[in-house]
Amino acid sequence: MKLKNSKILRCAQDDKKHRGYFITFEGAEGSGKSTQIRNAVAFLQKKGRSVVMLREPGGTRISEAIRAILLDKNLKEMSPITELLLYLAARAQIVREKILPALAKGNVVISDRFEDSTRAYQGFGRKIPLEAIEAVSKLVRGKLRPDLTFVLDIDIAKGLARGGRHDRIEREALSFHRRVRQGFLALAKKEPRRMVVLDTNKSVESVSQKVRERLERVFGQ
Ligand code: TMP
Repeated sequence: MKLKNSKILRCAQDDKKHRGYFITFEGAEGSGKSTQIRNAVAFLQKKGRSVVMLREPGGTRISEAIRAILLDKNLKEMSPITELLLYLAARAQIVREKILPALAKGNVVISDRFEDSTRAYQGFGRKIPLEAIEAVSKLVRGKLRPDLTFVLDIDIAKGLARGGRHDRIEREALSFHRRVRQGFLALAKKEPRRMVVLDTNKSVESVSQKVRERLERVFGQ
């Protein structure tokens, strides 16, 4: 029997209601992601959504162990390709162990960083060709893509002063961090529907307001 149009529409809406949604927060060092993530989680929970909060690199036992290697300030000799593959290895684990199962259950998954960080840091920062990164990334995340990405843009000197220069990446030269920032902005220009750039020179509350407005458009009803 053929389904009537209205019935098809209702099924599609139900699917949408129960489908997981993947949000990422990105940005250079000290851009205030943690505060904005906390506010976004609180906003979505108030709306009755169950939210799973993760961070990259990290979020699983294996990925946290890889994180410790990646950020160890004593491992100065790490080559850019080793670095890239370790970030991707950490991601391969969290995608399969945490992100995909949580999305399959209909959760909203919010990740503090995901693959735009790889493009910005290892692509623009380390100057590894983006096509090479993309080729391996495909294997790591399959069809998974963030539905929505907030890029918190910050003046590099301000961000580093705020976050400190403790780990291996934070200790990179200012020119490296400048390329990373420009990288995020260039990526956002290419994908304006997915990536929302927010100026964090404004007050924390006004940035939170912008995040809420965007979330309201997705989760309003
Ligand atoms: P954070 O969790 O304190 O932001 O630290 C993660 C660091 O790792 C940060 O300097 C950004 C960097 N990073 C990359 O270089 N490539 C990546 O793919 C990811 C996820 C993070």
